[in-house]
Amino acid sequence: MTATGLIDTARRLVGAGKGLLAMDESNGTCNKRFADVGIEQTEEARRAYRELIVTTPGLGDSISGAILYDETIRQQTSNGTSFIKILCEAGIIPGIKVDIGAKDLAGRPGEKITEGLDGLRDRLKEYAGMGARFAKWRAVITLGDGLPSRGCIEANAQTLARYAALCQEAGLVPIVEPEVLMAGAHTLERCGEVTQETLHSVFKHLYTQNVMLEGMILKPNMVLPGLLNPKQASVDEVAEATVKILLRTVPAAVPGIAFLSGGQPAELASARLNAMNLLAKSPASLLPWPLVFSFARAIQQPALEIWRGEEARVVAAQDALRHRAHSNWKALQGDYSAAMELA
Ligand code: G3H
Repeated sequence: MTATGLIDTARRLVGAGKGLLAMDESNGTCNKRFADVGIEQTEEARRAYRELIVTTPGLGDSISGAILYDETIRQQTSNGTSFIKILCEAGIIPGIKVDIGAKDLAGRPGEKITEGLDGLRDRLKEYAGMGARFAKWRAVITLGDGLPSRGCIEANAQTLARYAALCQEAGLVPIVEPEVLMAGAHTLERCGEVTQETLHSVFKHLYTQNVMLEGMILKPNMVLPGLLNPKQASVDEVAEATVKILLRTVPAAVPGIAFLSGGQPAELASARLNAMNLLAKSPASLLPWPLVFSFARAIQQPALEIWRGEEARVVAAQDALRHRAHSNWKALQGDYSAAMELA
């Protein structure tokens, strides 16, 4: 794909007033989420669940792209249609998670480095041949006593940049996901400092690796206090803190920012996204990029809890999935309200 093709795909993903659905849980993560709600942990259960998602009527009205996992991109519906084909027919661009997970970072106790660069060029080629048009790689930054270290931030930022360069070479738009985790008792301000340092480092390395910013998407965390901090922030405080850090760190050439949800309650994630888009709509706004979503749990979790592996509940689960996707779509216009949850 040419540079123009990459730019066009990136704009279709984040510039069309819709957001992304992350359905790229590894088998281990998917099994854990299944176990939590009492669903059997088999390949067939994972396939049936992903079929439920991709066949949800009307999903393409609010979702521009779906991120798949290696197992999922090879799967089909029960009547033999590939998930890729179903998504494309719904107007949803297929993408693929290509990292192989966060592992312990040597020499840095308590910190992680995401792996998967070995053989990535060949894997990207295969996924592109299967119809994927974009990719995703998640790095995690842990906050704690003396954490994160500069070494952890730099190692992950460089890895993200090398992944992004390989994606663009293969004609895939890279989604660059540096996630500062919510776990811990840190303050909103501390999360802001670390997010700022991380994003500075990520964009420095993207520049060093010659990544074309117009042909990528940033997938950051929102700036939030740690889950264990008794002083939680209001929706507006989160929106203001997040937008402030993004304005300081993300070049205007980036076509869009698509947030991860990171385990936030689904309705709160929608409310915070809505508040950011209200800021973006204000006359004094300086925001050069659309702020959209690329949620997994904050879209899927209510549907998963309704489905619980039972065929008879597929339609109700699809209704819940569509509702969350639609609520987040409303948040992109600043039109989301808690009242929508009562309908
Ligand atoms: O890598 C994580 C997903 O892309 C986003 O998942 O919204 O549940 O944090 P999440």
